[in-house]
Formats: sequence, structure tokens, C-alpha cells
Amino acid sequence: MGVPLGKEGPGLEDLLADHERAFLERLGPGPRPRIFFAPGRVNLFGAHLDYNGGPVMPTAIDRGTFVAFRPRPDRVVRLASTLDDETFEADLESLPSRPQGRWFDYPLGVLRELRARVAERGRAAGVRGWEVLFGGNLPIGAGLSSSASMCVATAHALDAHWGLGMDPMGLVECALHAERAFVGVQCGIMDPYAVGLARPNHLLWLDCKDASWAHLPIDFERVSIGVADSGVRRELAQGEFNRRVQECAQAFARLRGYADGAECLRDVELDVLDAHPLGGDVGRRARHVLTEVGRAFAARDALRSGDVARMGALMTETHASLRDLYDVSCPELDLLVDAAVDGEGVYGARLTGAGFGGCVVMLIERGAEESVAGRVGERFAARFGRRPPIELFGGDEGPREIPIR
Ligand code: GLA
Repeated sequence: MGVPLGKEGPGLEDLLADHERAFLERLGPGPRPRIFFAPGRVNLFGAHLDYNGGPVMPTAIDRGTFVAFRPRPDRVVRLASTLDDETFEADLESLPSRPQGRWFDYPLGVLRELRARVAERGRAAGVRGWEVLFGGNLPIGAGLSSSASMCVATAHALDAHWGLGMDPMGLVECALHAERAFVGVQCGIMDPYAVGLARPNHLLWLDCKDASWAHLPIDFERVSIGVADSGVRRELAQGEFNRRVQECAQAFARLRGYADGAECLRDVELDVLDAHPLGGDVGRRARHVLTEVGRAFAARDALRSGDVARMGALMTETHASLRDLYDVSCPELDLLVDAAVDGEGVYGARLTGAGFGGCVVMLIERGAEESVAGRVGERFAARFGRRPPIELFGGDEGPREIPIR
């Protein structure tokens, strides 16, 4: 489990037992549910590169979404969440064809996707409904990919229920399709890949231009991954995120004529931008993207040669670029990064996820975790009057069914 620094958190078994109890209370007595889990993720390198065709380097974390799941004898689907009192209910034949602007759009998108696959196999008439309670131990909207975690976990549970026999890539594709085609988020490919292809003690190197990937080992004897939550959640972040996607598309449209054969912004060389400055926000967004591509490759080299100090320095440079060129930071995130790197025991730190609030990820020297958490927590409290949750995350083995006792 992710360990809250300074106190022991509840173990996974206790959390799952609570979740099972909550399921039976909420959805009624009957057979015990099965429980599926998918992790969240934290991204270390390649900030805002996935939708620009660049490389990213995330890792899954040992916190995520619980899906407690029970088949029904009829064709009704019921979706409930520990975070909401409303239960969505519909017949499999009359599922909404448009998103409802609610949390259950994500599992609905996955459900529609899997139902289509069942129909392709000519088995639609025989399938039964199910009821599910979503929950887990991942903060929502904190940049740790709660939506991809929920989509992948739902895909896995439904795959088991309907006996489709999908492999991890199949789950990833379903999750991605649900978010893009049904929910309508213009997201890149990083999150479901990071969740679906998780491997403990490894980062995922994912090249978002051709979706090729590899697992890169990281030495957790030497470093810990710490995450500090600013507590800031921005309602309008989705609109701002989509604006960054559009600004990058504009940058590419204006630069591609000077870059032979370029298929995405990642392919444009930095000196092309220097020779043809774009000016304004679009120019600053492009400069972040092109310098970040260089940092991601440099970080992979540093990881391979065991140069943790270099990796950390690159992370902190990324934060400055996200703050000054991409405009996705905020005072709380900046303070967390400054407090982390301004002292012993931290190799580097940056905001993770889309930004506009959420979390900072820190590469911490093994053994220094408590002192770093103390320093960062105090500096944050002195300025903002509250202590930020700071946790250490372990890696995770990816989506799975968890047997309950
Ligand atoms: C969000 C998106 C990801 C990625 C990051 C920024 O988390 O869901 O696809 O674009 O922002 O790196």
C-alpha cells in the first residue's frame, strides 16, 4: 500500500473487507461480490507529451480503484460509487447513447465498448446484467489517473463476467476508447497504458507516436517515489487541458511546413522553433513540448546508467517549464517543489498529471523520506495553513481480481 508518512495506513485486506460490506449495504444482500482492482499512475517524465506524439515515463502505484461486482439474473445494470449517493440503473438494451456529465460516464463508456465486442461474437442475446460498487484508495482529480484506473478495472471485471478473454492490451484499448469516444475527453494514450501494463519496480517507457513500449527497471533500493498532494482541485481544469491540446495542434500546423516529414509536434526540432518563433502562448507551449522531448530521452539515458541525480535535476527542470511556459502550475504546487528540492534528500520534484492543482512527485533518496516529508509539510503549512498529505508509493503489478477471504 502507499504508506502515509508518519502513520500506518490501513492494509489492503481491511480496505477490501470494508468495500465488500459497503457493497452489500448499498446494493442489497445476496451472493458475495467479486473484487477487481486497477492501479493509478504517477508520471515522472514526458509532461504533456502524449498528445504530441512524444515519449512518457510513468509508473503504476499501489493505490487504485476497487470494483465490487455481482452478476444479476436479469439484463439490468446498476452502477454505484462510494463517493456518490445516486445509483445509475438501466437495462442493457437501453443504455444512454450520450454521456450524462456524471462520474458513471466512464464505466458506461467501457460497458458500451465491451457489449459491442460481445455482439460481434454473436453472443449479445445471452448476456446478463450486473451490479457494481466503485471505490478505492486513490484521490480523485489529483493527477494520479483515477479515470483510467476506473476504466481499466471496469473493463477487466466485465471481461471476466462475459468471458471475452482479453489480454492487458485489450483492456487498455477499451479504456482509451471509452474515454475518448464516449466521455469525449481529448486525452493522450499515457494513462490507460500506464495502468494496464504496470510492472513492479519498473517505469514504462511509452513512445506515444507509435505506441511502442518497454519496461525500464528502477532501483527502489536507492530511491523512493514520494507524492505530495496540494489539495487544489480545479473545476475548469478540463477546459484548460483541452486548450493546451489545441494550442499544440496550432503550433504544429504552423511549424510543420519547416520540418520535413514531421507527423506530430514531437518530430519538430528545437532549432526549427528558434528559426521560426511563434510568439505568444502558442510559442511558449511549443517550447515546453520540444524541450521536454529532449529531457525525456536524457532521463531514459540517466535511468539506464543509474544516474539518479541527473534524473532528479531533469524533473525539476520540467517543473520550471510547466510553470513558466505551459502555465499549468499554481502557487501550492510551486511551493511543494521548492520545499522539496531546497534541502537534503531529494533528487528532483515536479507536478505530475495535467497540473492546475493535484500532486507533486518527488524522487527521494532512500532513508531520507521522513525528514523530507517533515520539511515539505512544515514549509507548506507555514504558507497555506494546512499540512499536505505526503505518501510513499510502491509499484504495482497491474489490473487483477483480488480474492477475498
Ligand atoms: C492528463 C492526461 C494525460 C496526459 C497528462 C499530462 O493526465 O490524462 O493523457 O496528457 O495529463 O502529461
